[in-house]
Amino acid sequence: MSDSPVAAQKSPPSDLKDMSDLVSLSKRRGFVFPSSEVYGGINACWDYGPLGIELKRNVKESWWRAMTDREDIEGLDAAILMHPKTWEASGHVAGFVDPLVDCKKCKARFRADKIDPAALQAKKCPECGGELTEPRLFNLMFKTFMGPVEEDAAVVYLRPETAQGIYVNFLNVQQSSRQKIPFGIAQIGKAFRNEITPGNFIFRTREFEQMEMQFFVKPGTDMEWFEKWKEVRIQWHLDNGIRKNKLRFHEHGPKELAHYARAAFDIEYEFPFGWQELEGIHNRTDFDLTRHQQYSGKKLEYFEEESKERFVPYIIETSAGCDRSLLVALVDAYRFDGERTWLAFHPKLAPYKVAIFPLMKKPELTEYTDKVFTDVRRRFRATTDSAGSIGKRYRRQDEIGTPFGVTIDYDTLRDHTVTLRHRDSMVQERVPAENLIQVIEERIQNWGK
Ligand code: GAP
Repeated sequence: MSDSPVAAQKSPPSDLKDMSDLVSLSKRRGFVFPSSEVYGGINACWDYGPLGIELKRNVKESWWRAMTDREDIEGLDAAILMHPKTWEASGHVAGFVDPLVDCKKCKARFRADKIDPAALQAKKCPECGGELTEPRLFNLMFKTFMGPVEEDAAVVYLRPETAQGIYVNFLNVQQSSRQKIPFGIAQIGKAFRNEITPGNFIFRTREFEQMEMQFFVKPGTDMEWFEKWKEVRIQWHLDNGIRKNKLRFHEHGPKELAHYARAAFDIEYEFPFGWQELEGIHNRTDFDLTRHQQYSGKKLEYFEEESKERFVPYIIETSAGCDRSLLVALVDAYRFDGERTWLAFHPKLAPYKVAIFPLMKKPELTEYTDKVFTDVRRRFRATTDSAGSIGKRYRRQDEIGTPFGVTIDYDTLRDHTVTLRHRDSMVQERVPAENLIQVIEERIQNWGK
């Protein structure tokens, strides 16, 4: 049985075509709001609402479990503010720059490397034809001051990546956890970049979260680990239910490759605005630890007992954007069949796993519903709703991606069975109330199989 007998004959649902549909759904249903909206918003900053924060926690939890359930990875939560020398050593003070040009007439601002080279050569604004300034180098790090005096000596930066907090803690973690190489350190945290061209909703923002893991290996074994991590990381996205045909690898050619990297691949996702980077997997060699040794004067070497060798480890980095993974979860899940909009989240990402409804707002039904709700929410994140027709209530849950709906009706009072309704197929089945949790568990376990 399904909500609508014609549903089965409909043409296949379409994907998200226009980002504005997702932006408005996100605002309306409480996933993502423009930051400081009452003041007109602040460019490229967003706030996560009640459902957005649940989705984000689920994305992080999925990543954290995938990383730290392994014996060879430890967790870390380093400070956002770091010693300013960190950023000299990392190369960010000198090199984390974008070339910027301004139009003298319309005041539009562009990244010089992103506009048509002919327009740049002719110094002609791509928007209004006005004259462009010479390119200026603009550092993307946000600066602030430590302590009460605003002077050069007090300058500190908001970290532009979480990775450096891991590198400078390499020996602290290794020694306190007694890990042997190869092993990794995982961290989730905020990063800040004063992006010149932010945009596409939460795709490129100025404040965002990264989920980074740095894997320390013996030189010579690095390419083998690099290949392993590429496979592990793409599988993580697939395990979150992201469709295979929407993901691909992009290898950095010699021109794209960072000066420190021996090899780099991006995992890209096909957004409505094209294929774009979702995560980077980099072989960073011994660049980072060597530089921190030079700038700090402290040894960051590892002594291998078996071989009696001392070496600076190579690093394989996996660096995923948390907000960007969340955006991919939303974009990939978006479905519209001409009538119904739903988010086909994998249950592990869905903000609510189950919604429980009385068929009507009658005391005998709501009482039973409350009991089922109390039981179910002990096991799953669940919600309940008794306002409006049952069809409308299903639609509201479809739009926020709740995979299972449970309805309590008059048959329930007689035979203690409930209707279990499936979000994607709209198929309904009758399940004994006492088996409900077990049946949902089974459905989740067999998801996609
Ligand atoms: N430690 C390596 C590093 O930071 P990156 O390619 O600059 O590498 C890694 O960033 C990931 O962080 C990107 O693949 C993307 O998912 C996310 N990211 C980077 N800049 C971002 C921004 N301005 N807004 C949102 N996410 C961003």
